[in-house]
Amino acid sequence: MSTKAFFPGSFDPLHLGHLDVIVTAVDLFGDVVVGTMYNPSKTSGLFNLEERQSMIIESTSHLAGVEVRSFEGLVVDAAKAVGADFIVKGVRTGGDFEIEMQMAHTNLFVGGMKTVLLPTSSTWSFVSSRFVREISHYRGDVSHLVPPAVASRLAALAQGK
Ligand code: PNS
Repeated sequence: MSTKAFFPGSFDPLHLGHLDVIVTAVDLFGDVVVGTMYNPSKTSGLFNLEERQSMIIESTSHLAGVEVRSFEGLVVDAAKAVGADFIVKGVRTGGDFEIEMQMAHTNLFVGGMKTVLLPTSSTWSFVSSRFVREISHYRGDVSHLVPPAVASRLAALAQGK
């Protein structure tokens, strides 16, 4: 019997830390659904859900066992809709850990869904989508922080295309 994990996130945009968590989750569980979602506490987004989804599809096309979808609403409802056994989240820092623990307990309490927290590789533990957006906005080079599909989309945006 295979185990299905649901990895939700804003992914605005996907960076190499996210990709590292996806690779680890596939290694561990075999079947991973990546869900792009709006975070209600993050009002100003750069890409819409479909754009985020298509960049993730392109960036994970080499990985068997990964499906990429987008959802609105609660994480627990999206996880149940795809038939996931549990939620997977990446943890970079102690700050992430505190937030993710609180969400994990809440999602178990309100939705009955368990969460597995995976540490992001130390190589990428400093990377955040927010800083990727900022650097790219000012035409800095982010090609070593994000997959090629994301780097080219950001470069086009920075050049006004
Ligand atoms: O990448 P992010 O911004 O940390 O992802 C946050 C996300 C989208 C996974 C999630 O926290 C969220 O905001 N979900 C939508 C609403 C929800 O389920 N709220 C209850 C959280 S306990």
